[in-house]
Amino acid sequence: MIDLHCHLLPNIDDGPKSWEESLEMASIAVQDGIKGAVTTPHWIQGTNWEPEVSTVKEKVNEFNLKLVSAGIDFKVYPGMEIGITTNLVEFVSSDRILTLAEGEYLLLEIPFYSLPYGLEEIIDSLRKIDKKVILAHPERGKEFQENPSRILDFKELGALVQITAGSLCGDFGDKAKRCALDFAKSGFLDIVSSDAHSTRRRRPVVSTGLRILEDEIGSDKVNEIIKNSYNVLGLASSSYK
Ligand SMILES: [Fe+2]
Repeated sequence: MIDLHCHLLPNIDDGPKSWEESLEMASIAVQDGIKGAVTTPHWIQGTNWEPEVSTVKEKVNEFNLKLVSAGIDFKVYPGMEIGITTNLVEFVSSDRILTLAEGEYLLLEIPFYSLPYGLEEIIDSLRKIDKKVILAHPERGKEFQENPSRILDFKELGALVQITAGSLCGDFGDKAKRCALDFAKSGFLDIVSSDAHSTRRRRPVVSTGLRILEDEIGSDKVNEIIKNSYNVLGLASSSYK
């Protein structure tokens, strides 16, 4: 398993508070069978959470060196969880925001209440510059909880659907759990990630959620979902034994 959405860098957002905690999170992930991760600090225009691309890359390099020194077999790639704004094409074209592992996918944060106006147009405009979109945890958004089939509008535009593993365990309430399972059973689910923030409250653990998913849709489909995360990064899962 590779984790495409987690907050592992210290003191950049509401993630870990020290390198020690970051390293401990990596150890927890390894114990859970996670081989590597794209770390995705929040990027929200006009807020304190608007890190520079160079800062994220430097911290990722530093983290990888620390992981080697600590003997933790875990690789980290740079990314961002991007707050949706209308001018994302401009930000991505001028290298002010990061795709996942500098590939073709952007991770877009789905708000918990109403969907941003014109989201379809934003996704379409990104597609025109060859950037694809992953919707981060739509199952935790009110709009999808009330109408899960709304996700089809975005799937038709080529968006991938990423849910938080904890949603499958009921960590974000019954509605999020129901919505996550609805996506999975309808074949709309592409990626399961931890969205980890710390060593305690929201840990880098996906296996519990994946087991619940396996009971619902079977292990073949869960294996496909696991493979999707590698495909997004253009990695062969066999390279991560
Ligand atoms: Fe997140």
